[in-house]
Amino acid sequence: MRPETQAIRLQTERSQYKEHSVPLFLTSSYAFDDAEEMRALFAEEIEGNIYSRYSNPNVQELIDKMCALEKSEDGWATASGMAAVYTVFASLLSAGDHIVSCRSVFGSTHRLLTEFLPKWNITSTYVDFDQYELYENAIQENTKLLYIETPSNPGLDIIDMERLSNICKKKNVLLIVDNCFATPILQQPVLFGADIVIHSATKYIDGQGRTLGGIILSTKEIISTVKGFAKQTGPCLSPFNAWILSKSIELLPLRMEKHSSNALDIAKRLEVNGHVKWVKYPHLESHPQYEIAKKQMKLGGGIVTFEIEGGLEAGRAFLDKLQMFSLTANLGDTRSIATHPASTTHSKLTPEQRAEVGISDGLIRLSIGLEHVEDIWEDVEQALS
Ligand SMILES: Cc1ncc(COP(=O)(O)O)c(C=O)c1O
Repeated sequence: MRPETQAIRLQTERSQYKEHSVPLFLTSSYAFDDAEEMRALFAEEIEGNIYSRYSNPNVQELIDKMCALEKSEDGWATASGMAAVYTVFASLLSAGDHIVSCRSVFGSTHRLLTEFLPKWNITSTYVDFDQYELYENAIQENTKLLYIETPSNPGLDIIDMERLSNICKKKNVLLIVDNCFATPILQQPVLFGADIVIHSATKYIDGQGRTLGGIILSTKEIISTVKGFAKQTGPCLSPFNAWILSKSIELLPLRMEKHSSNALDIAKRLEVNGHVKWVKYPHLESHPQYEIAKKQMKLGGGIVTFEIEGGLEAGRAFLDKLQMFSLTANLGDTRSIATHPASTTHSKLTPEQRAEVGISDGLIRLSIGLEHVEDIWEDVEQALS
C-alpha cells in the first residue's frame, strides 16, 4: 500500500460489532480467559494486551501507521513530544555518556540537554548545524547519540542527513532526527540513514491543535530497549489521544500538501514585499540549503520565517495588527499562527545567544494553515503595512 492508503487503511482489527470506524479502547487493563493465559502473557510466551501502560489497541494503531509512514520497524508513543525526547535519552544512555547535538534545537530539548541530563552525568556538545567536520570532531569515545532537527525550529535550518549519517556510521553513534516540521509525508529520515526518528505529534500529526503526543520510531532492537524503560517508568500515551492522532493521520498527506502549497505561495509574496528584509522557506531557491531541502523534502512544509524591517518593536507591532492569524504557542494547525520568538520564547536569551541559533530581533515565524491562501495573504499584508 502507498503512504496515502496506509494512513487511512491501517486499522485495529474489527470487533464482533463490525464497526467501520475504529472504536475507543478506554480501558486501563485487559481480561484473561484463564490462569494459564494470564501466566503465558506475563511470561511473554504469547502476545497480547495486559495493561494500558504497556500497550493498547488505539496506541498500537497509531504506532503501526507511523512505522509504515516512517519506514521503521517499531515504535513507542508518549504523552508529548518532550516525553519522547526524554524517553529516548533516558532509555539509551547511562551516566558518563555523551551526546552531540546541533545547536539549533527546540527550547525544551535545549534545557533537557544543558540543565537536566548533566544531573545524571550525561553531557553534550553543540555544533553549528552545518559544520559537518565539527560534528565528527565533537564525537568522543563516550558519545552514543547524535541529535538533530531538520528543518529546525524556528530557524528552518536544513541539515544533510545522509552526510551526517555517514559520519555516525563510521563512528558507531546513533543518529536521531526530530522530524516534527516535515512529517513522514514530506521527509523520511530513515531513508537518509537516521537510526531513530522522533515526533512531537502535537504539531502536524494532530494538525488541529487538540492534543499533545509524541512518538519514537526505530528498529525492533532499539525500540525494545526503549520499551523496557518506558513500560516500567510510565511515559505512555492515553488511548483517547492516540485515537485522535490516528484519525488525524488519515488526512495528513492531504493536509501537508495544502500547508506546503499555501506556505510556498506566502513565502514568494513576502520575498517581494518592501517591509520584509529576507524570507526563509525550504523550497525557496534563496534558502541557503535549498539543494539539500530539495533532496530530502518532497515539499517545503508549512512554516515560513521572515525578518521584518524595524527589529523587535516592528515584530511586536506586526503581531498586534494581525486580524485572522492566531497568536498562540503551537504550530502545524489548520489555523494560521504567528509568533515573534525574540519577544516571547527566546526573550530570556541575549541578542548574541539568539543570533547563534538564527533568531534575529525582527524574526517572525508563520505556521501557515489551511485557510484560503488569499485570506492568509490579506492578513499578513495589512499587518506589514
Ligand atoms: C521541533 C520540536 N520538537 C519537540 C517539541 C516538543 O513537543 P511537545 O510540545 O509535544 O512536548 C516541539 C514543540 O514545539 C518542537 O517544535
